[in-house]
Amino acid sequence: MKVLVVGGGGREHALCWKLKRSASVSEVVCAPGNPGIKREARCVNVDAEDINGLMKLAKAEKPDLVVIGPEVPLVLGLGNQLREEGFPVYGPDKAAANLEGSKSFSKRLMHEAGVPTARFEVHVDVKEAVDTIRSWGAPIVVKASGLAAGKGVIVAQTEKEAIDAVRDMLAGNSFGEAGSQVVIEECLVGEEASCLFIVSGDTILPMASSQDHKALLDGDKGPNTGGMGAYSPAPCVTDDVAEIVLETIARPIIAALKKKGAEFIGTLYAGVMLTADGPKTLEFNVRFGDPECQPLMSRLKSDLGTVLLAAANRQLEGVELEWEEGTALCVVVTSDGYPTNFDKGQAIGGLDAVEAAGTTVFHAGTAEKDGVIVNSGGRVLGVTAVAPTVKQAQQIVYTALEKLQWPGGFYRRDIGYRAVAREENI
Ligand code: AMP
Ligand code: GLY
Repeated sequence: MKVLVVGGGGREHALCWKLKRSASVSEVVCAPGNPGIKREARCVNVDAEDINGLMKLAKAEKPDLVVIGPEVPLVLGLGNQLREEGFPVYGPDKAAANLEGSKSFSKRLMHEAGVPTARFEVHVDVKEAVDTIRSWGAPIVVKASGLAAGKGVIVAQTEKEAIDAVRDMLAGNSFGEAGSQVVIEECLVGEEASCLFIVSGDTILPMASSQDHKALLDGDKGPNTGGMGAYSPAPCVTDDVAEIVLETIARPIIAALKKKGAEFIGTLYAGVMLTADGPKTLEFNVRFGDPECQPLMSRLKSDLGTVLLAAANRQLEGVELEWEEGTALCVVVTSDGYPTNFDKGQAIGGLDAVEAAGTTVFHAGTAEKDGVIVNSGGRVLGVTAVAPTVKQAQQIVYTALEKLQWPGGFYRRDIGYRAVAREENI
């Protein structure tokens, strides 16, 4: 079959890479793609947020399956429009995508469905938000309700920090319209994990667990980013934890959406905090995580095309997923200065040598200029390896990264440290 993938980041590179290796798939087209994706797919220069352009492309290409990677086109209703034209689509309609598009909607639905999550309030008024912060005290979490590319969350250690964040968001200074409503949350403590599910109506198929490092600096310090690295499996997600997340988080939220008339077809991503009181939901996303998708696709043994088509066609029941044993680990290389300011257009060399050292380099924010790969975004590369242990996967990636020729690149040196510590304690 022919598959159209929408998006052009590391996640979409991993999806295209895996689809190209699926026996069921004869052709992969990607819009807009990137220079790395070009190795796996025919890239067509239509932006992932250009809904009209994507509709025209789908009508011209007539794919047998459309896989929508990023959240923005989902929230804009690309899934609805494609389905209206009869295309099998992997990715939820707009109403279900609201689970990610609006944190206030999502938290209220969790509350209605009895899904465990942090205590919260939604505010549009600065004074009321400040009153809540003063009465709850710090540490406290402030979130822009709308989409903010993983950056709209402030885990404030002091009341002042929280109040400044609220003022900034509600004044429209940071995150624009996305910050016109804020969610204030109790601060949860524990280890975080990403639990992803392939969902098709009432059928919910858990994927292998993974864990993402969202903070910029080693030791999970510094500001939150879109993700600095990830690995799968996450040893903190035992079979028991996975079962609890499926039964108390994934199933009830999908049922609550259905009750509201929103059927879910696509990836449900539950970001969970494993607290002393059990797993609690930090957030829902309605697509594969980035960078979690890179290690997940590296470990997936099943035919991705068959699985996603079955989900799109409501035939997921009975489908099973098979995973490589061992660990897949992905270190994200960013432009130095991300997530604030950074220069684009810097030449990146040594990519072949990094891959020759046993990794797969997934491209995110890269572009090609006069035949040279340059950085074009904040998160630029996802260097990924699969090995029997976390420690070995980490060593392969970090040794390979010594071959990278890009002085303006930055990466954390400790991706996977919690899993390594667990491994060493056994
Ligand atoms: P979110 O986009 O909602 O997942 O938030 C991004 C990150 O902020 C999460 O991965 C957590 O590290 C942190 N975070 C979000 N909500 C909370 C919370 N209620 N308590 C503690 N940390 C949180
Ligand atoms: N890795 C976090 C996210 O995809 O939102």
